[in-house]
Amino acid sequence: MTIDVLTLFPEMFPGVLSHSILKIAVQKKAMDVRLHNIRDYSKDKHGKVDDRPYGGGPGMIMTPQPVLDAVDAVRGGDEEALLIVLTPQGRVWNQALASQLAERRRLILVCGRYEGFDERILLALKPLEVSIGDYILTGGELAALVVIDTVARLLPDVLGDPESARLESFQGGMLDFPQYTRPSEFKGMRVPDVLLSGHHAAIEAWRREQALQRTMWRRADLLKPT
Ligand code: ADE
Repeated sequence: MTIDVLTLFPEMFPGVLSHSILKIAVQKKAMDVRLHNIRDYSKDKHGKVDDRPYGGGPGMIMTPQPVLDAVDAVRGGDEEALLIVLTPQGRVWNQALASQLAERRRLILVCGRYEGFDERILLALKPLEVSIGDYILTGGELAALVVIDTVARLLPDVLGDPESARLESFQGGMLDFPQYTRPSEFKGMRVPDVLLSGHHAAIEAWRREQALQRTMWRRADLLKPT
């Protein structure tokens, strides 16, 4: 998958992309992340990309010209590329949406800064608007990294054990069951006997039950039909 990121702060990305699973995804060429600075596309002689909001109010709004020219140049007429704008007004990111996006050949992520985008950017691009949650970040960069991270681990050959992506929390619409590793007893706390029994059907049943209980107590909203 190719992921183009349009941002005013490309320096925020390499650190995260060069560790752990994301590093492996890049090394295995499952994912190619290309960073583009929106400011490079500004036609303003000072490289201006934002201005004060009409009607007054705090903060600065990203102007249409640099963003639209940057998207045009990066997309290069590729109609299949899925354009995503990170904004708190977007559809809330979740595992189901991540699974859908992991099927795409190319994503273009546009990160906003300041108080947001001039609305005409959204009218012109008709992107998928994505929010990573009901809180306000200082910009879309961290949200873009969350999207990249969630999608990367779903790409073929990225995780050592593809079962782990399939079995974990949310992929089946439920929270994860409790997990234990060695030692079997630590400071008086014992691993549940069933997990040491070697009885696979009993372990499976215990895990299903635990996952269901946890989900009911902690996140009953996940069990409701959508
Ligand atoms: N930009 C600022 N806050 C955001 C959020 N919660 N999700 C996506 N982009 C954002």
